[in-house]
Amino acid sequence: MRPVLISGVQPTGKLHIGNYLGALKNFVDLQNSGRYECYFFIADLHALTQTPNSKDLSRNILNLAIDFLATGLNPDKSVIFQQSQIKFVQELKWILSTLTPVSELLRMTAFKEKVLQPLKYSEREKITKEKFEKIIEKSNFGLAEYPVLMAADILLYDAQFVPVGEDQLQHLEFTRTLARKFNKKFGKILIEPKPLLTDVPRLMSLDDPTKKMSKSQPSGCLFLDDSPKEIYKKLQKAVTDSGKEIKYDQKNKPAISNLIKIYQVLSGQTVKNIENKFKNKGYGDFKRDLAKIVVKYLAPFQKKKKQLSGQQSKIKKIIEAGNKKANQKVEKKMEIIKKKVGLIF
Ligand code: ADP
Ligand code: TRP
Repeated sequence: MRPVLISGVQPTGKLHIGNYLGALKNFVDLQNSGRYECYFFIADLHALTQTPNSKDLSRNILNLAIDFLATGLNPDKSVIFQQSQIKFVQELKWILSTLTPVSELLRMTAFKEKVLQPLKYSEREKITKEKFEKIIEKSNFGLAEYPVLMAADILLYDAQFVPVGEDQLQHLEFTRTLARKFNKKFGKILIEPKPLLTDVPRLMSLDDPTKKMSKSQPSGCLFLDDSPKEIYKKLQKAVTDSGKEIKYDQKNKPAISNLIKIYQVLSGQTVKNIENKFKNKGYGDFKRDLAKIVVKYLAPFQKKKKQLSGQQSKIKKIIEAGNKKANQKVEKKMEIIKKKVGLIF
C-alpha cells in the first residue's frame, strides 16, 4: 500500500506563479511520481474565515477546481475534492478542539498575521499586548480555530506526507502534537504526518522585493491567468535596484535577484548563464525577455484552462466523484476514532 499524501489550497482568489511553483507544480510532480496515494482538496471551509461573500466564494471554488485540473492534477491518479463536503472532518475537528488549549491557538504566527492584517506594517511591529488582546476579542473565532480544522483534514486520512509551504510548517507541527496528545489519551491510532517542502524559493512581490508575492497584494503578482499584454506591462513596471547590471545579489540587489530567480525557474537556465546573456544589456532588455519566457511558460496552462472553463458540468462531476471517494476513505476511520473516544460503545 502506498503512503497517503494530502494537501489543500484555499479558494481565496486567482493563483499567481508563486502559488503554482511553491504548491501546485509540486502536487503534480508528487502525483506523477506514482509513489503516493494522493488527495488534493479545495479548502473552502478555511476560506470562509476570510468572510467572503457567497458569490465570490462559489466562483473561487469552481475556478480553483479548474486550476487544479489545468495544471495537471488528474482525477484518475489523485482524489480531487471539496473540503466542506466531507462532514466527518468537522466531527474530528470538534474532538481535536477539546484537546487544544486556547492560548496555543492565539500564539500561532498565521493567526497573528491575519488578525493584524488591517494594520500598517510599522504598527504591527510595535503593537502592545493590551492592543493585541483588544483586537483578538473582535476577531472571528474561525481564524483562531483554523489550525484545528487543518489538523483534522490531515489526521482523518491517515496522511503520512503533507506538501506545504514554509508558512504552514507551524500548523503541521501543531498537527503532530495533537496526534501525539490524542494517541496518549485514547490509544495509538492517529499518524504523525511529515511535511514535504519544495526546493522552489519563495518568490517576492514585483512591487516590493521585501514582501512575498501574495494574492493579498495583487499588483505585485504575476497571475496564471494574466494575458501576454498584462505580463509585459507588469514586468515593465516591476521595481528594480540602483545600478544597471543584471546580477544576482540577494542582499544588495533584491529586486533584480527576484526577477532572475523567476527567469531561472521558468527557463531552466542557470543564474550564471542568465547573467552572461545580459552582460552588456539593460533592465529593459532583460524584462522583455523575461516577459517572453513567462508568456510561453503559461501558454499550455491557459489553453487547457480555456477548454475546461467551457465544461463546468464535467468539472462538477469530477469534484462530486472525488467527494464520494474521500468520504469513503474516512468513514471507517471516524468510526474507530469515535469508539476510542467513547462516543460509540
Ligand atoms: P497567498 O499569500 O498568495 O494568499 P497562500 O497563503 O494561499 O498564498 O499560499 C498557497 C500556497 O502557495 C502555499 O503552499 C504557499 O506556501 C505557496 N506560496 C504562496 N506564496 C508564495 C510565493 N510567493 N512563493 C512561493 N510559494 C508561495
Ligand atoms: N492552510 C493551508 C494554506 O493556507 C491550506 C490547508 C487547509 C491545508 N487544510 C490543509 C494544507 C491540510 C495541507 C493540509 O495553504
